[in-house]
Amino acid sequence: MNTKHQKQRGLILVSNRLPLSIKKEGDSFQSSLSSGGLVTALSGLTQSMKFRWFGWPGIYIEDDEDQKRAAESLTENNATGIFLDPELAHEHYNGFSNCILWPILHYQSGVEFDETAWAAYQRVNEIFADIVAGEANDGDFIWVHDYHLLLLPSLLRKRLKEHGKQCPIGFTLHTPFPAGDFWRSLPVHNDLLKGVLASDVVGFHTDEYQRNFTDRCAQSLNVTMKTEDRIVYEGHETFVGTFIVGIDPQKFSDSRLDPKVQDRIRELEKEYKDKKVIIGIDRLDYTKGIVQKLKGYDHFLQQHPDLVNKVVLIQVAIPSREDVKEYQELAEEVSFHTGRFIGKYSSADGTPLIYMHRSVSFTELTALYCISDVCLLTSRRDGMNLVASEYVACQAENHGVLILSELAGAASFLKPGSIIFHPSREQEMADAIYRAVTMDEKEKEERYRGLIDFVSTHTSAKWGESFINALEGYSER
Ligand code: G6P
Repeated sequence: MNTKHQKQRGLILVSNRLPLSIKKEGDSFQSSLSSGGLVTALSGLTQSMKFRWFGWPGIYIEDDEDQKRAAESLTENNATGIFLDPELAHEHYNGFSNCILWPILHYQSGVEFDETAWAAYQRVNEIFADIVAGEANDGDFIWVHDYHLLLLPSLLRKRLKEHGKQCPIGFTLHTPFPAGDFWRSLPVHNDLLKGVLASDVVGFHTDEYQRNFTDRCAQSLNVTMKTEDRIVYEGHETFVGTFIVGIDPQKFSDSRLDPKVQDRIRELEKEYKDKKVIIGIDRLDYTKGIVQKLKGYDHFLQQHPDLVNKVVLIQVAIPSREDVKEYQELAEEVSFHTGRFIGKYSSADGTPLIYMHRSVSFTELTALYCISDVCLLTSRRDGMNLVASEYVACQAENHGVLILSELAGAASFLKPGSIIFHPSREQEMADAIYRAVTMDEKEKEERYRGLIDFVSTHTSAKWGESFINALEGYSER
């Protein structure tokens, strides 16, 4: 990678939400880097490159003076806040992105199209384009992230041209891209494809998503396919590739050695010394299959009643998108199933299920990963799933077993070392859990070797570098 050249040009990262949390403290604002899928994925890259983030700061600030102060605090963290009117932000984020696009990208049927939400989606993409094109320097790389901003590449290209600036544009989708016919259930499917195709490089997490996208473009738009991964549309050529996203494994190895984490590990090991611990860490999202997980685990215990006091599933469900009806209903449904489950299996000797409906600190997260014998991930659909990699990164000592849904993008890469199953089949899940909790040390170690080899060679830093290299190479044709 030509680092010197990149430093001169700079890198602009654009995502719907800034990876920072911002709080008012007295008269001023304090912002700090938060955690999340995209932040995890980009943490390696942001250490090695000069970058600026653009995105919505996640809070509404009406007062102009306050907005100025908040913007200053964001600038200290290399971020530019795109402040949106609350109603517009709500229609864009909850209305179109999370109620319409998210389910379609994850193969959920029965989605109703809504013109008001679509208008807000277009408007917010335009606002982002105005600000980013205005602030970009000629030659900067612009890397746009995820489904909230599918129209942004084409809007940016037009505006940059008006400003006389030439900036390579990259786009990465962090969700699955569904098979073409499913994508067509969205009436504006072609507008969104055209939006993305204005990029120079488009990245997906797996070959399947990449193929689904290129096949759809070939069938729906008047494009020329130069090769399987080069599409020409209206004279502009786009490279569409698979870029394997990862984590920063060092962050977890370092955390494991932190005395606070070590203390917590000892406490937890004492607490669960006679039990096999199964960990589940998910955003509370219907795509993660948490209800299916509880049913599969119930099935497993019904078939192995002798194990009721010998296993425990610690399920952390991180609250997510709580303004959306489907997520509120899911929270109720999961509470109902956990209550029923605990009522059925708990005794004075303990319970085989611990359910936390909240996020946990990084110290707690690392300690939980480290002491768990098994990690159970039951995604009904998932762009990648970086929890799988985080778990592996914490298993240098125990060689814990990863049970992974075949419908998570991560399964395409972690298949050899993990136990793969279909999340809709309780028996398959029950068998997978039984195999994991009874696996001998030799097999666990062999599997772990394969998994850690992948996780340590496909890091977030490598992912970022290979995407930027592709963008650089492609834009200098
Ligand atoms: C997924 C998406 C990300 C999103 C994250 C958390 O991983 O691909 O773009 O940031 O979920 O969702 P939220 O709605 O809280 O940003």
